[in-house]
Amino acid sequence: MDAGDLLRSVRMAGSPAGWRAVRSAWRRQRIDARDLPGRGPERARVPGVALDAEPMPGGGTVRFTRSVLQVRVAVGGAVFCGWDGAGPEPSYALVDGCPEPDPRALLEPDKDGWRVVSERVTVLISRYGAVEMRTPGGLLLRRELPPRWWDPAVRQDGAVARWVQRSETPADARVYGLGGRASGPRLPAGGYRLWNTDPGGSFQPGDDPLYITMPVRLVVSDAGCHLVFHDNTWDGRVTLRDGEVGAGSGHDRSGGSELRMDGGPLRYWVVTGTPARVLAGWTALTGRPALPPRWALGPQHSRWGFGSQEEVRKVAAGYRDRGLPLSVLHLDIDHFDAHRVFTVDHGRFPDLPGLAAELAEQGVRLVSIVDPAVHAEPGVAAYDSGTAAGAFVKDARGEEVRGVVWPGEAAFPDFTNPAARAWWGGLYAERVAQGFAGVWHDMNEPVSFAAFGDPTLPLSARHALEGRGGDHREAHNVYALMMARAGYEGLRGLRPEQRPFLFSRSGWVGMQRYGGSWSGDVATGWPGLRASLALVLGLGLCGVPYSGPDVGGFTGTPSPELYLRWYQLGGYLPFFRTHSAIDAGRREPWQFGPEVLEHARTALAERMRLMPYLETLANIAHRTGAPYVRPLWWNAPGDRALRDCSDAFLLGDALLVAPVLEPGSRSRAVRLPRGLWYDTVTGQPHRGPAQVLLDAPLGRIPVLARAGAVLPVAGADGGTELEVWAPRLGRTGGGMVCVGDPEGWVRPRMERFATRWADGEVVVERDGKGAGKPVGYPVRVRGTAV
Ligand code: GLC
Repeated sequence: MDAGDLLRSVRMAGSPAGWRAVRSAWRRQRIDARDLPGRGPERARVPGVALDAEPMPGGGTVRFTRSVLQVRVAVGGAVFCGWDGAGPEPSYALVDGCPEPDPRALLEPDKDGWRVVSERVTVLISRYGAVEMRTPGGLLLRRELPPRWWDPAVRQDGAVARWVQRSETPADARVYGLGGRASGPRLPAGGYRLWNTDPGGSFQPGDDPLYITMPVRLVVSDAGCHLVFHDNTWDGRVTLRDGEVGAGSGHDRSGGSELRMDGGPLRYWVVTGTPARVLAGWTALTGRPALPPRWALGPQHSRWGFGSQEEVRKVAAGYRDRGLPLSVLHLDIDHFDAHRVFTVDHGRFPDLPGLAAELAEQGVRLVSIVDPAVHAEPGVAAYDSGTAAGAFVKDARGEEVRGVVWPGEAAFPDFTNPAARAWWGGLYAERVAQGFAGVWHDMNEPVSFAAFGDPTLPLSARHALEGRGGDHREAHNVYALMMARAGYEGLRGLRPEQRPFLFSRSGWVGMQRYGGSWSGDVATGWPGLRASLALVLGLGLCGVPYSGPDVGGFTGTPSPELYLRWYQLGGYLPFFRTHSAIDAGRREPWQFGPEVLEHARTALAERMRLMPYLETLANIAHRTGAPYVRPLWWNAPGDRALRDCSDAFLLGDALLVAPVLEPGSRSRAVRLPRGLWYDTVTGQPHRGPAQVLLDAPLGRIPVLARAGAVLPVAGADGGTELEVWAPRLGRTGGGMVCVGDPEGWVRPRMERFATRWADGEVVVERDGKGAGKPVGYPVRVRGTAV
């Protein structure tokens, strides 16, 4: 605590909420001063020199004078490296534990150490503990230098070794990922903390870290792509340094990074291949993304500050009366009784089940916010049952850890305790009974308001960690992940016939197994608009494909133009929801004048038209991990110019979307990947790779279709039809259609289509298993032969 903290405390203590935040910060500090093991004297260590090696299935171990390294290639091609005896398990990230080793990969001596040769990657281990990953052709993907540890010199309970590892990547490499970062998707050089954090108020580019941090990096270079994941939940910091092609006397200077962790195992996975292969390998390891119900792909509206059931009804009527489609309405903390989770303010919301039924008739679902903090007050049902279940986080002395969130004094479920998860999952019965179709997890970094210091639980707070036991330093980053698991399993048990719908503000590696995310409290403004795209792209590359921003921004009131541009972007993102803070302006499309309303109507109509395509993309993501929203380099990682492009994206294989991210723009430059692209409005073809200038009038943003694309869209009668974009003369194309179960578990049918030129005409045929069968959909061919 410094003079600044004291000043802040004095200033805040004036209001009851402020006073609680001051007291909570002091309390947190006091508990940690008492219980957190100090750093004490430390001793530095490096692996030393290799002594011997022992082959094992998939690889082997190399013994150094002061450490040991295990290298293991798994079936599927992912490579595991663990130092100091760290194995792949236990892990919160791996969906089914560690995959089987690839028996064909073996450790063998090499000229300066050892190597493990596998189908997709060659691993070289030097005599001093440097580890290189190379392509089968021998090109360097990454080199990890020998790590360095700082071991506690004195054994003390809870004292852990810190470590640092530096790595090198090719000079042309670009880095993406690290969870949801506002400054991406290409991460600029600089430092990135690995600690899930509510930035408080709102955030914009430059604010870091945010709600979802993940030690996952996707690296794209001429040599190839790879993903590296350090399976460690502790606080840490990644520093990225850009490489330079042709630096100095014409030599390349490699790119580099440094990873420092405050504790936890030194172990990592590397997955190599094309971007699509990397995401497939990554989600095979950490779990395929949950498939949202079809209705979750439709337009959604939310607001913090719906004052009553009547107001919610009026908003729905506002959409209906104007002929605007609406799929979901979200209820924020205002509908709770005194902000207590799993309660209802019956005065202002007298009949939620009735409201839900009435809205369902109109095709509108209700989704409820769920905060983890439980009002710590005897007599509050969730508090009493949680106490009885022994579910709340305790300190080292066994006292319940208290914090402050919306309802005031609060206790926090320990989601790393399986029994607490089961208890928590059961509480969703109340939400189901109130008629909610899905849940929105919030404040789960977890947040405890604090006048100063980190607004979360004390670092010394105890957690079950699946029975292993540990403290908040290790559990913090997986708190929301395990809350998602509890919620998902709870909903699945309560309504087994329906796929749960869940999205969460915070999370960690593997959160896609349970649901999606949204961008949190993004500041209203043009930089916020840009950040919201960066977040969606970045999370997609970390395996979390379903997300989207608060359209219009969380704070204040956007200008009509900003609102519209945000709306137009949001219409092409997986999670399309308007939302804003209690003291912010409204976000209904009709609040910004008749012109904006008409343009928003156009964006909504296009969203609805693309629903069959979005559903297909959701199924592809669920099966392969490929995100719906992809960076422009997805199919062309060798195109260096595309790697720096942060202002456009691919929606699946068929479309390229170029949102307007600047005020006053009525045209914009778009960098096209290789191939032929049609402007979807004018039909004009453009040949890539190239930079083209496209019209972007207020009424629309540029969207291009890839020549040869076959995409399912909703026809005028609501049925699915195929929109086919003429392939280049003499070339072929294709696409997929998923005929899915809207809410249940029936495995959807994937139909493949191919298109080609025949006798001067574009023909479409069933492909794959269905080859030879009739197409079965009306076909509309667009684009002209080039
Ligand atoms: C947090 C959420 C925001 C929500 C608010 C009130 O700030 O990020 O979306 O409206 O809490 O629940």
